[in-house]
Amino acid sequence: MASKNGSNPRADGKDGRYAHVVGWGVEIPQRIMKNSDLEKMMDTNDQWIRERTGIAERRVADDRDTPVTLGTRAARKALRHADILPDKIDLIVVATSTPMYLFPSTACLIQDKLGATNAGAFDLLAACTGFVYALGVASAQIRAGGTDTALVIGTETLSRVLDWSDRGTAILFGDGAAAFVLRASEIPGGVREVVMHSDGSGGDLLYLPSGMRPSWNGTPPPLAHMSMNGREVFRFATKIMASATQEVVELAGLSMDDIDLIIPHQANSRIIEASARSLKLPMDRFVVNIEKYGNTSTASIPIAVAEAVEAGRIKPNDKIVVVGFGGGLTWAAALIEWAVEPTPISYGRDVLREGFYILARVRSLLQRLLRFVGAILFGSPTEEAIRRKERDSNLRDK
Ligand code: ACO
Repeated sequence: MASKNGSNPRADGKDGRYAHVVGWGVEIPQRIMKNSDLEKMMDTNDQWIRERTGIAERRVADDRDTPVTLGTRAARKALRHADILPDKIDLIVVATSTPMYLFPSTACLIQDKLGATNAGAFDLLAACTGFVYALGVASAQIRAGGTDTALVIGTETLSRVLDWSDRGTAILFGDGAAAFVLRASEIPGGVREVVMHSDGSGGDLLYLPSGMRPSWNGTPPPLAHMSMNGREVFRFATKIMASATQEVVELAGLSMDDIDLIIPHQANSRIIEASARSLKLPMDRFVVNIEKYGNTSTASIPIAVAEAVEAGRIKPNDKIVVVGFGGGLTWAAALIEWAVEPTPISYGRDVLREGFYILARVRSLLQRLLRFVGAILFGSPTEEAIRRKERDSNLRDK
């Protein structure tokens, strides 16, 4: 990865190591919410939503699903695709705008469910740009030699943070998850260049309070609802999508003619059309699936990539650009050379993987049980003992 100021190592990394996407998986909730369903909830209509955004329907997670369950199922599909066992994962990076907890991270909870006992795990927060940032971090880690196999996940339950009476935001978003497996290889290509940008002066244009801070206009926010200045975000997005794409292509020493496909963040089809006009490219060089899912934030780009691969629109040796933007403000683009053929999936390892997931559950339960029994047998400090200790140290300080 090279930065725009040239301070980072070049794409070929240490000792000719490259970071390839070798597996991908998508998890989409079953429940479909059509524009006509929204008509019953707010003052909007199907025609307006389709014409102004390109969205026809979106998916909404059911009560049992969370970013962890969706992300775990997407990760399992990606591991299956790459034919990798969970204990081979060195790093899990989860990009999410809707974590259930600030800690434990969504990545740690997914690590536990996968039984990825050898993996480091953390969440990365860059709103809808998060997946491209995470791709940058994980691929740099692989190229630098510290990681052989990384799982990069984008997972969201945005339906839980929407104000369903606000037609300016509620019509736009949907739930979903997708995961990539990245692996070190000596074959040139993979995630070649990544550019990342931010402009915090636009933080008030798109935000989701954590509950620990007042909202940007000073009034206490209703419980964790997303707020957005749609027109300003639209203006910002149409400016940076083309420039970030051009920047990452130039950094790789290529021209736009070398790029087979552009997979943009799916926020509004008019934003994608504006980017195509700026880049002077026909729309068939762009992947657009916003009609089916709306904006799934960090999951939108990997879902679109996975669908394009499955549809045969991305083939080995193709050069693609993924480009996203979001709250922060943040924006980023990555150039990927899709060089590695998918690994054939072996039935035996499939069974082994399923066994791993059952063992992961058992292991997790046992660990909790052991901690519980340990606390009973060897005694964890009682509240009284903690208070006594505090009293003693206060006295010592006086
Ligand atoms: N249904 C019907 N009418 C509507 C709706 C709606 N859902 N929303 C707004 N309108 C009306 C407005 O009231 C306005 O009416 P008026 O002219 O009588 O005042 C008219 O439609 C036009 O409103 P605008 O806000 O100018 O509509 P615009 O064309 O800008 O579309 C939209 C709004 C879709 C939100 C657009 O601005 C947009 O897509 N912005 C970018 C949003 C985005 O990408 N966000 C994701 C960022 S990624 C992340 O990090 C989460």
